[in-house]
Amino acid sequence: MKLVLASKNKKKLVEMNDILSHLGIEVCSEAEAGVDVEVEETGTTFEENSLLKAKAVMEASGLPAIADDSGLCVDALGGAPGVYSARYGGEGLDDVQRYQLLLENMKGQMPRTARFVSVITCCFPNGDVLSARGECEGTVAFAPMGEGGFGYDPIFFVPGLKKTFSQLTAEEKNAISHRGKALEAFQVKLDAYLKK
Ligand code: IMP
Repeated sequence: MKLVLASKNKKKLVEMNDILSHLGIEVCSEAEAGVDVEVEETGTTFEENSLLKAKAVMEASGLPAIADDSGLCVDALGGAPGVYSARYGGEGLDDVQRYQLLLENMKGQMPRTARFVSVITCCFPNGDVLSARGECEGTVAFAPMGEGGFGYDPIFFVPGLKKTFSQLTAEEKNAISHRGKALEAFQVKLDAYLKK
């Protein structure tokens, strides 16, 4: 089965394929499906934005489309950056500037607890929708550590492993990450859906 990923994020595409390929599911990029969709993320929840993205790409491509809407929710900042994680500090910042801004805003703040959230939505051309949510608990590190991953990975510390997401291998991250858990729950729903 082939699903089009409603995202331009190449690292998300790799993570999705790492997790779903053993089920015989191939996730392809919008470019591979011949579409280029700009979706305005006007929702205020991960669920709303995930649905907006998957629906738009399904309608443009005519193929089943999968979207991940995700972000980092920091308790001391009232859940920010949350659904605005990709735009934290404004559109002009890159990943490093964004996590540096977050570290700046966390100076003197307690607690440093935070969680990554991912909501996966899959829209089918017949109108059916499947959705699943995953979360991963951690803390905001005091300084970036590690080279791997993307986004806020260098400052997301997993106390149980004493490492940031950036210091984990792709396999280790996928086993505990918000996206890994959401995709695990999604697989169960997809399996049941395909057997109907
Ligand atoms: P989205 O593509 O609109 O869902 O934005 C998600 C944003 O949340 C990304 O641009 C990252 O800044 C952040 N994010 C989501 N998942 C991860 C992750 O696994 N690691 C690091 N940052 C992430």
